[in-house]
Amino acid sequence: MTLLLLSLWLGLAWAQQDQSLVPVQPGFHPEQVEGPWHTVKLGATDPSVIEEGGSYLCSMSGIKLLEDGDLNITYFHRKDGKCVQEFYIGKKTNTPGRYTFEYEGKNFLTFVAVGDGFLIMDLEKRREAGALIVVELHGRTFLVNEVGQEAYRKHTLRRGIQPDNIVELSAHARCTSLGS
Ligand SMILES: *[C@@H]1O[C@H](CO)[C@@H](O)[C@H](O)[C@H]1NC(C)=O
Repeated sequence: MTLLLLSLWLGLAWAQQDQSLVPVQPGFHPEQVEGPWHTVKLGATDPSVIEEGGSYLCSMSGIKLLEDGDLNITYFHRKDGKCVQEFYIGKKTNTPGRYTFEYEGKNFLTFVAVGDGFLIMDLEKRREAGALIVVELHGRTFLVNEVGQEAYRKHTLRRGIQPDNIVELSAHARCTSLGS
């Protein structure tokens, strides 16, 4: 009995801690994030995924709200030196602002902050080797204000992503049009 209660309590504590690590934008509604975006920064717990050729070195270019409430997310990805356009479907969950999608396995997507011209996305993939976390800063333009930069800094810190493991998508690395 005591053991059962203890494990229940631990389970609850774990779930709560998990949630506090990935806050969701209060009052999130998907219309806020629809439309064109530019990726400004990418950070990851495993930096190899955002290095040249890495599977998460992507530039998100737009979000479309589908009729059933899911999101169609378009992005550009470099493949064999060429820019290719791809998309994934963010499936809504019971929590507004939290989605799941398939990309080399199951991923969790949380809209952590949506502000004036910026957007912070938290991607988490549970792997056997431990969770992979990627935190992305997107802007309506390539310039994101101080509030957005600070929110991004705070969230990457909270997720254990070192400043060294954050890349700024510099002009030459940007992949925003086909074939470039
Ligand atoms: C998502 O968007 C892409 C690119 O615009 C399109 O080709 C695809 O059909 C869309 N998928 C769905 C399910 O709407």
